[in-house]
Amino acid sequence: MAKMEVKTSLLDDMIGVGDMVLLEPLDEDSFINNLKKRFDHNEVYTYIGSVVISINPYRSLPIYTPEKVEEYRNRNFYELSPHIFALSDEAYRSLRDQDKDQCILITGESGAGKTEASKLVMSYVAAVCGKGAEVNQVKEQLLQSNPVLEAFGNAKTMRNDNSSRFGKYMDIEFDFKGDPLGGVISNYLLEKSRVVKQPRGERNFHIFYQILSGASEEFLCKLKLERDFSRYNYLGLDSARVNGVDDAANFRTVRNAMQIVGFMDHETQSVFEVVAAVLKLGNIEFKPESRANGLDESKIKDKNELKEICELTGIDQSVLERAFSFRTVEAKQEKVSTTLNVAQAQTKVRKKVMGVLDIYGFEIFEDNSFEQFIINYCNEKLQQIFIELTLKEEQEEYIREGIEWTHIEYFNNAIICDLIENNQTGILAMLDEECLRPGTVTDDTFLEKLNQVCATHQHFESRMSKCSRFLNDTSLPHSCFRIQHYAGKVMYQVEGFVDKNNDLLYRDLSQAMWKANHSLIKALFPEGNPAKINLKRPPTAGSQFKASVATLMKNLQTKNPNYIRCIKPNDKKAAHIFNEALVCHQIRYLGLLENVRVRRAGYAFRQPYEPCLERYKMLCKQTWPHWRGPARAGVEVLFNELRIPEEEFSFGRSKIFIRNPRTLFKLEDLRKQRLEDLATLIGKIYRGWKCRTHFLLMKKCQVVIASWYRRYSQQKKYQKIKSSTITVQSYIRGWKARKQLRELKHLKRCNEAATVIAAYWHGTQARRELKRLKEEARRKHAVAVIWAYWLGLKVRREYRKFFRANAGRKIYEFTLQRIMQKYFLEMKNKMPSLSPIDKNWPARPYLFLESTHKELKRIFHLWRCKKYRDQFTDQQKLIYEEKLEASELFKDKKALYPASVGQPFQGAYLEISENPKYKKLKDAVDEKIIIAEVVNKINRANGKAASRIFLLTKNNVLLADQKSGTIKSEVPLGDVTKVSMSSQNDGFFAVHLKEGSEAASKGDFLLSSDHLIEMATKLYRTTLSQTKQKLNIEISDEFLVQFKQDKVCVKFIQGSQKNGNIPTCKRKNNRLLEVAVP
Ligand SMILES: Nc1ncnc2c1ncn2[C@@H]1O[C@H](COP(=O)(O)OP(=O)(O)O)[C@@H](O)[C@H]1O
Ligand SMILES: [Mg+2]
Repeated sequence: MAKMEVKTSLLDDMIGVGDMVLLEPLDEDSFINNLKKRFDHNEVYTYIGSVVISINPYRSLPIYTPEKVEEYRNRNFYELSPHIFALSDEAYRSLRDQDKDQCILITGESGAGKTEASKLVMSYVAAVCGKGAEVNQVKEQLLQSNPVLEAFGNAKTMRNDNSSRFGKYMDIEFDFKGDPLGGVISNYLLEKSRVVKQPRGERNFHIFYQILSGASEEFLCKLKLERDFSRYNYLGLDSARVNGVDDAANFRTVRNAMQIVGFMDHETQSVFEVVAAVLKLGNIEFKPESRANGLDESKIKDKNELKEICELTGIDQSVLERAFSFRTVEAKQEKVSTTLNVAQAQTKVRKKVMGVLDIYGFEIFEDNSFEQFIINYCNEKLQQIFIELTLKEEQEEYIREGIEWTHIEYFNNAIICDLIENNQTGILAMLDEECLRPGTVTDDTFLEKLNQVCATHQHFESRMSKCSRFLNDTSLPHSCFRIQHYAGKVMYQVEGFVDKNNDLLYRDLSQAMWKANHSLIKALFPEGNPAKINLKRPPTAGSQFKASVATLMKNLQTKNPNYIRCIKPNDKKAAHIFNEALVCHQIRYLGLLENVRVRRAGYAFRQPYEPCLERYKMLCKQTWPHWRGPARAGVEVLFNELRIPEEEFSFGRSKIFIRNPRTLFKLEDLRKQRLEDLATLIGKIYRGWKCRTHFLLMKKCQVVIASWYRRYSQQKKYQKIKSSTITVQSYIRGWKARKQLRELKHLKRCNEAATVIAAYWHGTQARRELKRLKEEARRKHAVAVIWAYWLGLKVRREYRKFFRANAGRKIYEFTLQRIMQKYFLEMKNKMPSLSPIDKNWPARPYLFLESTHKELKRIFHLWRCKKYRDQFTDQQKLIYEEKLEASELFKDKKALYPASVGQPFQGAYLEISENPKYKKLKDAVDEKIIIAEVVNKINRANGKAASRIFLLTKNNVLLADQKSGTIKSEVPLGDVTKVSMSSQNDGFFAVHLKEGSEAASKGDFLLSSDHLIEMATKLYRTTLSQTKQKLNIEISDEFLVQFKQDKVCVKFIQGSQKNGNIPTCKRKNNRLLEVAVP
């Protein structure tokens, strides 16, 4: 929607008048009413020509958004409703495109919105000028200079919570493309006295509160500060906190801004050190002391604070103390100083410059003093420059446009400036003269002098003036003088003028400061350098200020001025309140009416021909709707036609000039009227057109519908006829077809009947033939059967006499006999060898001989075994008996057995009788020795083996020492109860002895022999033959052996191969003996 209502002129949608130049009638009341009307409608900006009047809304309005910036960007000044952005855009564009340096002069009283306005201008310019990282950094630095300046130069006052206590002029520099390069800031009139003392309800400069609220404990400690405001005499306590102001957060903003602006860390640090030192200075108290020589001296009460200051600033304590004590500084008097750095702003390289001046406006208080005097002087100068520049511009435009310049009366304030700044007779010159004069100088002598010199000046009033013009004016006290400024009369108290003008800092103080071991403080007091001692008096505050104003004016004169006049609508800092008296006062001292008058000096309104013709062309037949010729001729025709009196306008080269706003408003009224007529006309034509097009459309539609309908109905009719025809056709076809079918069916039935009859006939014929043939065949068969029976009967009768009843049996037996015979004969030839181990046997020829064949094999085997046995001698027989016995005892039970089969049982392995070593043994044993062999006896305690001679005789078992042949033990066979051994491939065996027998006292024997099978067999056989009892042979891998009193378990396990093939025996514990068999 916003896009729809495109404005092409300021004159559209106007509330009151947007440009005061167009105000009619022009007087104070209508001026204020217009402002109020606009203010009530949230229009806080109004123009006077190109000057912007801004009324502080005291609330945030939605008119500073990025969208608004875009709206005002690159638009003509008068195109949209008045706005600070329009002015900024105009200034920036003529700077960028026409290479004209600009200055923006913002004036108004405290709290009127000057600083805000200057920030708005800067932010607008920042938003529309170039882009890029470098440019953005510059922009950021420019914008961030504000928080820093405000922290050190702004304070809460009764009128404004964030009042700038200094005048500020900032030159923003741009390169040829219009990208910002940087800025130079100059300060004027910093209210230094505020540091020492603030009026009730006001605060010191923000930075003091910010540092105490926002700095970290650590930082405060470094600065030797305490957080408590009440510790410091300089901090007014009654309004230490301000609503809506977060000092701590602002402190962070300021530090951050300082960093962005380019302060190095150590620089920031030393700035804060100075701030801390200033705070602490306030706490130093003096006590007066009279000395003997009659001179007064001041003494410092508490030196601790002084010591800390000296530590912070690096000044020698004694130096500072001396400086304080030898001369008392009247620190509690208000002082104004000027700091000027305009020279800095003049740089060598040609840059485009936009200056922004934010300075106090006119000040008229109850008590006006030196400060007000010089501020008002400054404003007077600004007004001058405004008049000069406006008139100059006006004049230039007239010349450019070729319009005759007619002089118009307006008030030129040059005369007031002269009253103040004239080098011989000006008030400032008088003041300087008075200050430098030897002898007693007081404010009164100064006033007297003024009375002498300025008495005749028409803008100077005083009661004591020689010419007693004002003697009767009781409103003017004796110690005052009054100046009639362009903005109104102001009465100044003369008291303090001389002192403030002098504004001296005593040399011993500045020298003490210069000696500080602190670069910043040293730099702040260059005059303290003893090398540069200057016996000349420093220039007075007044002359300094005059000079700086002059420089500023010179600077401004080279630039194209743009004015923003700020007005404060009420004293309560409240929105929506418009105090007419207050505004009236401001309008007067800002000289706004005067502004309008100057602006209207010649012609009130001017506009290029093209937009003018475009706007008003509908007022004349020749120019409406299109004018083909040049725009100027069009406007001429138009104005002639409208019969506008000739003195009311002039034709410039490119612009039409209108003398009176009345004429413009007449034009506007006519236009409005005409627009209404035109709107009606357009409406009329539009409605006619709309109806006609609607009718035509309907007509066209009707034709289309009718044609479609006709087509449709014909189609329907045709389809009906077609379908009826088809129906009739189909009936006829059906009837014909049925008739034909009937005929065909009849024909078919006739044919079928003929076939059936024929078939029956053939059938009858065939059956008759079949019957005949069957009869014939039966007869032939009967003949054959009868013939066969007859033949059989004949043969049987003939051969009956040749057959016997049992002939079959005889043949059977004979055949069997023959077969048996053949079998045996063949067997005889196929007999296997006589070896009992030969497994061969011929195959069986007939199945019925199965059992015979097996029996025959068995018999043959038994026979050849007998044959084999019969060859044995008695000796051999005995050996085989033994071997048989061994086989019965051990086969499939002991793994050692198969290996023993092939070994002959020798019995006496040791030749006892032959060997002389064993003679004694031989003698001891007189019976026949059955076994003599070396065995290993296993030691019962540790499982170790010891060699023994094992002897078996008919009645005894003997163990003897192998070396000596001494008998170790002798056991009667009757005492041997059992022999135990493992099932494995080892030669261990235990000989169990009968309990209680003599031999058993030492326990059973555990022995090991290479001929275990033979020994066990022989032991078994000998025992059987001697005692008629079978010896118990136990084969088990685990058996118990009686060792003296204990029963020990002998356990055979599968051992590793690591000891070779020899089984090893180990005593595990007293219950277990383990034999590992490989
Ligand atoms: N355009 C504005 N919109 C909203 N508030 C404003 C505007 N101008 C000024 N103000 C309010 O008025 C206060 C005083 O403005 P400031 O610019 O500091 O005054 P000055 O510099 O003239 O003393 C600001 O703190 C702000 O609250
Ligand atoms: Mg300000």
